Amino acid sequence: MERCLSKLNTLITSEQIETKIAELAARIREDYHDRNPVLVGVPKGSFVFLADIVRVLDIPLGIDFIGVSSYRGRMESSGEIELIQALRTPIAGRDVLVIEDIVDTGLSLNYVLNVLSQKTPASVKVCALLDKPSKRKITVPIDYSGFTVPDKFVVGYGLDFDEQYRYLSHICYLEEK
Ligand code: IMP
Repeated sequence: MERCLSKLNTLITSEQIETKIAELAARIREDYHDRNPVLVGVPKGSFVFLADIVRVLDIPLGIDFIGVSSYRGRMESSGEIELIQALRTPIAGRDVLVIEDIVDTGLSLNYVLNVLSQKTPASVKVCALLDKPSKRKITVPIDYSGFTVPDKFVVGYGLDFDEQYRYLSHICYLEEK
């Protein structure tokens, strides 16, 4: 029988997200206001977070995306990371800030950091809205971290389960009914 995972439980409200983004943006603005950084979003999950944080940041910056895939609609990482969209901006000598929705196993972020470091940027740092340390398979640096979340599958605010729930303005965890 197919599992029904449609029970949504609020974990982080939209007000909490807004407050956290203001805090993160204040720190990032302080560090990057005169460096014209390139913010690199990792779609699809980070698109809402990226859109919100750049508007609060309000500093000169570039934006690009690097696409990797490991989930394919399941709740567990396949462990095999694939590059599905290459960066187009030349980042040699630039300060790069990777914008992630969630760091779970860390495998995707580790892959992204390896790809970026081969392009000889001046620096690479990471901003992740959510950190799920319980599933970590590899140590990765998170320089600007929003919320630590428990070992649950979370959705909303850009994050999906099988392409559902990205539209939610808050973050929930999914439970079997
Ligand atoms: P990682 O490689 O396991 O760290 O995770 C890579 C990507 O999987 C994240 O950027 C998310 O897009 C997705 N992901 C990991 N955990 C969750 C979750 O709990 N909910 C939704 N997406 C997730």
